[in-house]
Amino acid sequence: MIIIGCSNGREMGKRLARRLKKPYSELEVKRFPDNESYIRYKVDVKDKKVALVQSFHGEINDQLIEVWFAARTAHELGAKELWLVAPYFPYLRQDKRFKPGEARSVHVVAEFVDKLFKRIIICDPHLHREKALSHIFTIKTTKITANPLIAGYIKGHIKDALIIGPDWESYKWAEKTACLIGCESAIMEKKRYSGRDVEVKLTSKNKNIDVKNKNIVLVDDMISTGNTILKTVQLLKRLGAKRFSCLCVHGIFAENALQKLKKAGVEVISTNTIPNKASRIDVSGLIADEIDKFC
Ligand code: R5P
Repeated sequence: MIIIGCSNGREMGKRLARRLKKPYSELEVKRFPDNESYIRYKVDVKDKKVALVQSFHGEINDQLIEVWFAARTAHELGAKELWLVAPYFPYLRQDKRFKPGEARSVHVVAEFVDKLFKRIIICDPHLHREKALSHIFTIKTTKITANPLIAGYIKGHIKDALIIGPDWESYKWAEKTACLIGCESAIMEKKRYSGRDVEVKLTSKNKNIDVKNKNIVLVDDMISTGNTILKTVQLLKRLGAKRFSCLCVHGIFAENALQKLKKAGVEVISTNTIPNKASRIDVSGLIADEIDKFC
């Protein structure tokens, strides 16, 4: 197998190749003046198993085109088998036609992945209405969770943690992490009005929650605009909470989210599924173990 680092998978690709003791090469990616994409393999991929590593963040649509071109080209060049290693996979929240006429975008993206790849590996996919990756993809799928690493970080760095999940979907990360540590947790209720506008409330179960003198640790799968976490922090501050940390798997941090959270007094820690200033938890070992099982 050869590991190929796409434009947003270089750091992770190198780490995986080092751990697996496999060759690594970078996919050459350029733009023409008119914005068309250019990709080129710098190594011979003929008869090789090729693992393309790409984390989708920032210019997601360009990165999808890049992976599409790279996969088609690898087949043309005689690659034996293709895998997509996507520490963060996009569009998973768009799995339903919320309004008439909308695209079910994740299914559109999955169609091209299914045609070109044999296996996809994703870290903590945002599965909600679709319950399993096999409901989205027809190829072999591997789901990895960073929960044990997040739990280990909290155990090693934060005393007397009270873990808070900002919405019911977050139980898969918040409640499960709390179980691994053996600490208290509570799940809030969120109403989403738009991509930016959310409201976070207490539920009937946690209306008497005691947050005073606790180290509040917010745990979620991803932070995008940061508004979900900010609204949760505002709610908990009104109840008397003072110290806040937030751990997430995917630090997307759109629209200065990281700065906004720091300003609100929240210490943010993420994994390195998306490289960023807050990533302190390395998931490459988990991904390498899964690759090793099947290659
Ligand atoms: C949604 O259910 C996710 O788990 C996150 O809570 C959400 O995507 C975070 O988005 P934002 O940071 O923009 O509020």
